[in-house]
Amino acid sequence: MARARRPFFCGNWKLHGSIAESLALATEVRNGVASLREVDVAVGPSFTALHAVAKRLEDGPVAVAAQDCFWESKGAFTGEVSPAQIADAGCKYVIVGHSERRQLFGELDAAVNLKARAALAAGLSPIICVGETLAERDAGETIGRVQAQLDAALADLGDADLSRIVIAYEPVWAIGTGRNATPDQAQEVHRFIRTRVGARAPSLAPHVRILYGGSVKPDNVRALMAEEDVDGGLVGGASLSAESFVRIVQAGIKEGSAA
Ligand code: PGA
Repeated sequence: MARARRPFFCGNWKLHGSIAESLALATEVRNGVASLREVDVAVGPSFTALHAVAKRLEDGPVAVAAQDCFWESKGAFTGEVSPAQIADAGCKYVIVGHSERRQLFGELDAAVNLKARAALAAGLSPIICVGETLAERDAGETIGRVQAQLDAALADLGDADLSRIVIAYEPVWAIGTGRNATPDQAQEVHRFIRTRVGARAPSLAPHVRILYGGSVKPDNVRALMAEEDVDGGLVGGASLSAESFVRIVQAGIKEGSAA
């Protein structure tokens, strides 16, 4: 199947790994995907390992993503890390608005927008996460919730910004639960997201990559990638093993390889 967008798979390692463990995992991932073409791959270590991992992966095919950032560039903000510092550490991407940030740390839609804009200003590509909870899905509010999160996150982004973002649809009920959205469920929301971006920037919408996240595994990625608007995966648990993450990338591009 011809595909307009280059597939992208990003590992989100969450709160896991010493520097040595992160380096070992990153090296295995790099070696595992070295021969693959027509795909972008990134890994997302903890802040403490970002610089070491970025150095190890320098000049190779695997990019590095931070898992969060603050929006200010400097100042009295104890504990925060700026997008410029993340770029300086060697990252290309930063995940913003992950549901764990929203649920466990009270991150609001407006903060996600500030983070996305600050990341873009620092030269990073934000991976903007949106997704509904199980209660919202059961109440028939999936599209409304995703629309609200998306509209807020993209507020005040210009066309040049929109051309550099990645969006991740991550239904909260599918994250770390082993219960992935069905390909149909994912496609419905991905299509909605692309249409919504298209209302803002019609010429850019066909090029924006929309990743699915939530229990992506080697054995479900092909069916997800077969959907027209699913362009890759944001992979948590299954990215902590190089073997399973590489299998996900291999299976994903087999289904969704660029023409
Ligand atoms: P999971 O996590 O693959 O472990 O479900 C995905 C994510 O939170 O990005």
